[in-house]
Amino acid sequence: QKTWRVGVAGLGTVGGGLLQFLAEQPDFAPAGDRAVVTAVSARSKSRPRTVDISGLAWFDDPVALASSPDVDLFVELVGGSDGPAKAAVEAALKLGKPVVTANKALIAEHGAELAALAEANDAPLLFEAAVMGGTPAVKMLREAMVGDEVIGVAGILNGTCNFILSEMEKTGRDFADVLREAQGLGYAEADPTMDVGGFDAGHKISILAALAFGCAPKFDAAEIEGISDVELLDIKLAKDLGYRIKLVAGAAKSDDGVAVKVHPSLVPLEHPLAQAGGALNALFIEGKRIGRIFIQGPGAGAGPTAAAVAADIADVMTGAKRPVFQAPAGQLKPFVAVDPARS
Ligand code: HSE
Repeated sequence: QKTWRVGVAGLGTVGGGLLQFLAEQPDFAPAGDRAVVTAVSARSKSRPRTVDISGLAWFDDPVALASSPDVDLFVELVGGSDGPAKAAVEAALKLGKPVVTANKALIAEHGAELAALAEANDAPLLFEAAVMGGTPAVKMLREAMVGDEVIGVAGILNGTCNFILSEMEKTGRDFADVLREAQGLGYAEADPTMDVGGFDAGHKISILAALAFGCAPKFDAAEIEGISDVELLDIKLAKDLGYRIKLVAGAAKSDDGVAVKVHPSLVPLEHPLAQAGGALNALFIEGKRIGRIFIQGPGAGAGPTAAAVAADIADVMTGAKRPVFQAPAGQLKPFVAVDPARS
């Protein structure tokens, strides 16, 4: 039985959840190895926390944590597509260390480059927690689509927006009021523009599109519209006509390329996506032979997202080996965006 010394950068909601889980169940993984958090880094050492970090090695710099010879597996929960998160992930991969991250912006914007680095150094790079938190969208897409061909993926990938739209409809409260509550509940990003502007959903669907279609992720090809302009009246009018407004993120392939879009959309009330209320996330995957798969579940929060990080840690420990995306980095198709005017 091997003990993996885990270094965790970022001790926010998800980091706290992960530390608590691994302290209680270090031997959770099916293959029998243990995962023990031995070192951490975060913005502030002294901030009051729900988990005790006094016995752990402290690093001010995530890059130093990722590079430490006393860390076998690096978990990146810092966030942000560039800066210390990217530098730390690169440092770990260059040393051949497995990396588990919940960072959707990083993977959506630099996934192909990081996949190449991971594969060149024979280091796993896993990111289940980046999309739909505790609901296994990445693993499901990977597994289901090994034997099939994806035609399209579409879903509700941002819990904050879903919560805001659901609560506005249910309670008649206005946008700003419900957004404040979503922030208080810990769903929203530090900068809620990422949520309400549709960018967070755009990051997530860019990752799913890459996995679905075997191409390199390319966030800047996504066409994105958020929910800031949705008013109570829009929600009411839609409902009178038999629809519910949802922020739907979708990706589809045609002979010309891939279209990735995020838009407030009218969903018929009886459709499963319309039934996903509160902060739930939901996803349809359409395969050529499998047909339609639908999953729904929590897309944020400490417990669910830490569970997804732990599942990736277990995959590292069991030694599951496959390319970071659906093909080795050198063989990924370039992302060719469909001209939005024609799609
Ligand atoms: N802010 C995100 C959401 C958190 O609301 O879905 C999980 O990625």
